[in-house]
Amino acid sequence: MSALQNMVGWIDDRFPMTKVWNEHLAQYYAPKNFNFWYFFGSLAMLVLVIQILTGLWLAMMYKPDADLAFASVEYIMRDVNWGWLIRYMHSTGASAFFLVIYLHMFRGLMYGSYRKPRELLWIIGMIIYVAMMATAFMGYLLPWGQMSLWGAAVIVNLFQAIPIVGEDLAIWIRGDFVISDVTLNRFFALHFLLPFVLAALVFVHIVALHKVGSNNPDGIEIKKGPKGNRWSDTAPADGIPFHPYYSVKDIAGVIVFLMFFAGILFFAPEGGGYFLEAPNFEPANPLKTPVHIAPVWYFTPFYAILRAVPSFAGTQVWGVIAMGAAIVVLFLLPWLDRSPVKSIRYKGGLYKGFLAMFVIVFVILGWLGTQPATELYTLFAQIATTLYFAFFFLMPWFSKADKTKPVPERVTK
Ligand code: HEM
Repeated sequence: MSALQNMVGWIDDRFPMTKVWNEHLAQYYAPKNFNFWYFFGSLAMLVLVIQILTGLWLAMMYKPDADLAFASVEYIMRDVNWGWLIRYMHSTGASAFFLVIYLHMFRGLMYGSYRKPRELLWIIGMIIYVAMMATAFMGYLLPWGQMSLWGAAVIVNLFQAIPIVGEDLAIWIRGDFVISDVTLNRFFALHFLLPFVLAALVFVHIVALHKVGSNNPDGIEIKKGPKGNRWSDTAPADGIPFHPYYSVKDIAGVIVFLMFFAGILFFAPEGGGYFLEAPNFEPANPLKTPVHIAPVWYFTPFYAILRAVPSFAGTQVWGVIAMGAAIVVLFLLPWLDRSPVKSIRYKGGLYKGFLAMFVIVFVILGWLGTQPATELYTLFAQIATTLYFAFFFLMPWFSKADKTKPVPERVTK
């Protein structure tokens, strides 16, 4: 026995290293027909790691103090060696994270990956999504620019709309009557903590995934199909070992992603004002409200839904409820889809039409959320909001009424 084998044996007697490696990688059989859309789970993990590492380095030089925060970010950008790169990796990385996650979620929508037995996997994913939103929201306050301050003010003020407890709740969140140094300090503490909570949630997400096994573009349960392949007599016939097949494939995805990411970092790190908004290059000023307050693009669909609902009797509570409901309905998806088939490949025109409408409406809401709320745009937002909810509320009907195609016995290419 070699020294290496000896050492592995020594560890295995004390810790299930080889067992975990085999169960989750070398002898974990994933469907052999994964396509482009299956890159985004591993890419999301990569971006999470990038965010944690760049965030840690930023925190070494950032000062969570209302008098110093803005200047400390400028110091990182101008004086710290490679500070600009670390900062841009983190701020552009936030947008990359949401882009990757939206594509990851859309894959789930296309292939019915939220359906039985993956309901809990989807719900854990949704908890991750909400945690990501909280993390990004708190992170945006930290540079203490104009949009940091006013964006946070608008969102925290929404809590005030909640009857009875709203006023106290908003004060409790801010730690003050307005967004202040106290708020900045606690948002920094929470923004540092949450990515580690995210990492723990991702672990649980993968545990849930490996319990039920991956879905695939055909929406066929390979575990229910025939058994036996060239690696094992008991493994699903349509499965291949995750390692080395998908570990190598995922690395190809990582390389392409890093090329795009580097391209954006070096040539358009602020995304034309969509990743870092122009007013955020001005220090926060509580006495000067920006002409037009809008969140970063990944929040704007929900912001547009919020603004689409008019205030009744001076309270915005219905808008807040609509915005919350727009997220809550996503949790319910596994129970709204009644189609006899999982994958879009075998669904009919009715379902495909509704899904296409949903994507278009989501993008339109996202754009409207970046625009000033004129009368015309508010009307558009109201129509789009109605269609957004129609997708979910009508799903039990259109998923059943849809004319589906026969699903093959075995996965196709
Ligand atoms: C930090 C964020 C996340 C990470 C790192 C992550 C990671 C992963 C990975 C590595 C996989 C397996 C590879 C793949 O199928 O692409 C996966 C599968 C899955 N994820 Fe996520 N995920 C995240 C967020 C989400 C969110 C927000 C949702 C949905 C709300 C979600 C729902 C799913 C589902 C349904 C699957 C199974 C897909 C299938 O088998 O077809 N995930 N995730």
